[in-house]
Amino acid sequence: MRLSDRLAAIDDDDVFEADPEAPGAPPRAKRHRARDDAWAEAKRKVRALVLEEVAPRMAGLEGDALRAEVRRALDEILQREEVSVSVSPIERRAFVSEVIADTLGYGPLDPLLHDDTVTEIMCNAFDDIWVERRGRLVEADVEFADDDQYRKVIERIVAAVGRRVDESSPMVDARLPDGSRVNAVIPPLAIHGAVLTIRKFASDPLTAMDLVDKGTYTVDLVTLLEACVRGKLNVLVSGGTGTGKTTNLNVMSSFVPHDERIITIEDSAELQLQQRHVVSLEARPANAEGRGQVEIRDLVRNALRMRPDRIIVGECRAGEALDMLQAMNTGHEGSMTTIHANTARDALSRLETMVLMAGFDLPIRAIREQIAAAVDVIVQVDRRPDGRRVVTAITEVQGLEGEVVLLQDIFTYRPGTGGAPGRLTATGLRPAFLEKLEARGAVVPAAIFRAPAEVTDPRPTRGPARIPDAATIAEHDPTAR
Ligand SMILES: Nc1ncnc2c1ncn2[C@@H]1O[C@H](COP(=O)(O)OP(=O)(O)OP(=O)(O)O)[C@@H](O)[C@H]1O
Ligand SMILES: [Mg+2]
Repeated sequence: MRLSDRLAAIDDDDVFEADPEAPGAPPRAKRHRARDDAWAEAKRKVRALVLEEVAPRMAGLEGDALRAEVRRALDEILQREEVSVSVSPIERRAFVSEVIADTLGYGPLDPLLHDDTVTEIMCNAFDDIWVERRGRLVEADVEFADDDQYRKVIERIVAAVGRRVDESSPMVDARLPDGSRVNAVIPPLAIHGAVLTIRKFASDPLTAMDLVDKGTYTVDLVTLLEACVRGKLNVLVSGGTGTGKTTNLNVMSSFVPHDERIITIEDSAELQLQQRHVVSLEARPANAEGRGQVEIRDLVRNALRMRPDRIIVGECRAGEALDMLQAMNTGHEGSMTTIHANTARDALSRLETMVLMAGFDLPIRAIREQIAAAVDVIVQVDRRPDGRRVVTAITEVQGLEGEVVLLQDIFTYRPGTGGAPGRLTATGLRPAFLEKLEARGAVVPAAIFRAPAEVTDPRPTRGPARIPDAATIAEHDPTAR
């Protein structure tokens, strides 16, 4: 039977999507290893031929029409003798989809992009791809055919947002059409070859209840955070890279009442606010001539002229911290941002440094006064070794004493014992901001601040039995007196 006949035996319309959990499916790594060089070589050849054939007609085509065109070209090419290669009928479906993915999509990254358990994709080289799956870093069992294909995919992603990646701009941020955040770095900055990092955009963003289910929040914490947001406290979410800062900010922003005008400011738009009255602003890098840059700082200052009720800044990294503090102190209470730091104390030091980056020679005490007056609560987040993302502390900023900003932990994380997961627990201290909240009509039940009772063994500790001697009995015997 001719190759084309064998291929035709399989239905074209079935889209191949790798399903790692499909019952009975061999592990993807094994399937991958089973492909021989001829398969890889045929794919390379066919991909190039399809591109060559379809490229001149691609301009006017979109979506299904484009897909159909690629399938048609592919079928035609597969029937030619020069690419006849022994492809089993079972493999044809994969072949068709992979070539379509290579031509129209992101090649081997497509299945990873469709896999909901994958939250981040990291390509260190065309054949060295890692993913974060359920919070853990694992090697992916896919790879690009060669560096050329890998670089073409990077260029396609970057070009789609009107940017380019080349010698003169070897480091770019971009976004996939679904909103996923992309960063690409190519040589000479990336020493061993191009590096591509994709933070997948959650099509269905996590909600407060999802975070309770995942063990990130407790129900008490949701109650408190909701009151803090409704009561217009200024909140700082602090954490390391990828610990869930933006996700927390997004969840907290969901508590903002629907009648308030919210302005979000980000480097790369990731927040997904559900309210109707939201204005989203995004910073812009300089163009190829080095002009046209708009920084977060410019946007914060501009936002003040847009009658915001709340300003939400995706991440404070530099001088915008000063503008943010000023906004928080001058009638834009209820503003929120995230900061890269490992503890609440650390977050405040970082904030100080960032304020200095604004270029004003402010005395430290003045900066601390601003910080102490502006920030009410710090939510510290972290990723545990088991991949779980948790809130590890809720810390109140109480004010300034001398030159020191006073902090008080309201909730802290207690590691679990005997293999049990840890838990965020109340310290027993009532935050001073409760008065502010009450004045603004946000009431928090006192019970949530109660520290859990220490679990002690109710049984009396037993020592060795002591039998009283005659003298002791006589001493305690009332009838003997
Ligand atoms: N509580 C959570 N439970 C499970 N997954 C989470 C949780 N919070 C965030 N994630 C996932 O972790 C990844 C990183 O989250 P996020 O973007 O919020 O982190 P980040 O701290 O803002 O990262 P970066 O430092 O890169 O800005 C995302 O894919 C997100 O879906
Ligand atoms: Mg973030």
